[in-house]
Amino acid sequence: MPRDILLKTDRLTKEFSGVRVLNEINLEIRRGEILGIIGENGAGKSTLVKILNGTYTPTYGQIYFEGQPVQIKDTSVAKRLGISMIPQEFNLIPELNVYENVFLGQEYQRGPFLLDTRRMRAKTRELLRELNTTISPDEKIQNLSVAGKQMVEIAKAIAQDCKLLIMDEPTTVLTAPEVETLFELMRRLKQNGVTIIYISHKLKEVREICDRVLILRDGDFVSLDPADSLDLRTMANRMVGREVGTILPPKVTPSEEVILEVAGLTVSGLVKEVSFQLKKGEILGFAGLRGAGRTELAEAIIGVRKKTAGRISIAGHERRINSPVDAVRNRIAYLSEDRQGIGILTNFELAKNVTLVSLPKYFRFLINPAVEKKRAEYYVDTFGIKTGSVYTRVEYLSGGNQQKVSLAKSLDPAPLIFIVDEPTRGIDVNAKREVYHFLHELVESGISCILISSELEELVGMANRVAVMREGSLVGILEGDQITEEEIMYYATGVTGGVSA
Ligand SMILES: Nc1ncnc2c1ncn2[C@@H]1O[C@H](COP(=O)(O)OP(=O)(O)OP(=O)(O)O)[C@@H](O)[C@H]1O
Ligand SMILES: [Mg+2]
Repeated sequence: MPRDILLKTDRLTKEFSGVRVLNEINLEIRRGEILGIIGENGAGKSTLVKILNGTYTPTYGQIYFEGQPVQIKDTSVAKRLGISMIPQEFNLIPELNVYENVFLGQEYQRGPFLLDTRRMRAKTRELLRELNTTISPDEKIQNLSVAGKQMVEIAKAIAQDCKLLIMDEPTTVLTAPEVETLFELMRRLKQNGVTIIYISHKLKEVREICDRVLILRDGDFVSLDPADSLDLRTMANRMVGREVGTILPPKVTPSEEVILEVAGLTVSGLVKEVSFQLKKGEILGFAGLRGAGRTELAEAIIGVRKKTAGRISIAGHERRINSPVDAVRNRIAYLSEDRQGIGILTNFELAKNVTLVSLPKYFRFLINPAVEKKRAEYYVDTFGIKTGSVYTRVEYLSGGNQQKVSLAKSLDPAPLIFIVDEPTRGIDVNAKREVYHFLHELVESGISCILISSELEELVGMANRVAVMREGSLVGILEGDQITEEEIMYYATGVTGGVSA
């Protein structure tokens, strides 16, 4: 094996209960390269890297590391070889603080019995500073935002010297400036000789940061090419195995009728006097940086967060919405951004998850299993959810397929107003296309939609108007030609746009 090859796999194969999800993968990863892995949801990307970091053992096949055959039977073996991974699903202990999580299982010792807390805290602070965050080493994980947790996962992975750093969709929860910081860090690590595997559904980012790109489809190797020899269309087509149609549907012109009016909505310290109107059949985008208050605003509207001031009217009538039950009663549905949090119950089966919010619809006293099954099958079909059956427990689905389940769940009670928070986070191009066309159908049928998104392309392509928030305030509402990625960023970062709109 040539010296410039860090890791090689020979016919690497994985089956779960007899179903093959990774099929005889032969791969050579070069020292110091950034290797991208792309593929549809369920293609086997996470499974492949989980074998490399010892989370799963292969059904058969061999891994060579620095020329030697190795058996990576658990994650501690991987760590010892110098392989660490930032997992797609967070792996942090909420009750512990940041530095304890960063050093969990790799503590600095002071003598045989004592932990060197001071050094661990100092090192954590240094790592976090390198990541351009202001998170304190002493903060409890449970108090951090999703992006904050991601930063801690990254710090944890690079706390010890590593030769191969695996990142499974690290940017899905990050905003544009945070992604830039991460890319700078990746370039620095690469310069220091670290090899990186980078899994993402953001094909543009993959092209920008990766040297070579591996494409998987249904567990099979499709191709491995230099990133600059691939264009986005080719990447998408190879992932899906056929021509992908237009990703974005045409925009629908909304009616003039105002369905939702929010006036002076305030949440102590987080949302400041936000007022806007949502029209029938409109997609109103919400842009902003992390912490701008978009999710908090949505949570205040659906009653899971206490409002300190403000009024909400639906179709001209003022309504009190103080709980999610009130929201459902007023036919407002919400898709949460945190699919591992309140989004779905991963240890429940798919069908139960889909019908959870709208249980009363299925039966007055008991759940009607036949109806539940039919609804679940309908959503599996509509979104192309890759699952054994509707009775599969959601924890066994791939990350993107879990996201599709939470989308189905929030749509099931037939809302009039649909608030979606980062709906395409972590899902593949084809599923994205399905979500966009689905939203299009919803607004065409007269449903109104609030689309909170950090993907500027998505806002520009989908929204009739884009409201931009900064530090809790609504600083501008863009319409028509004003809706460009640049203009949104100007408002979001404060280059233009005073407070009030
Ligand atoms: N522990 C498990 N038990 C049973 N099936 C599993 C398990 N882990 C993964 N699978 C199945 O293996 C297949 C590949 O999943 P994997 O997580 O590797 O996909 P992925 O390419 O990472 O997708 P995504 O883009 O959605 O993250 C899927 O069909 C998934 O349901
Ligand atoms: Mg995955």
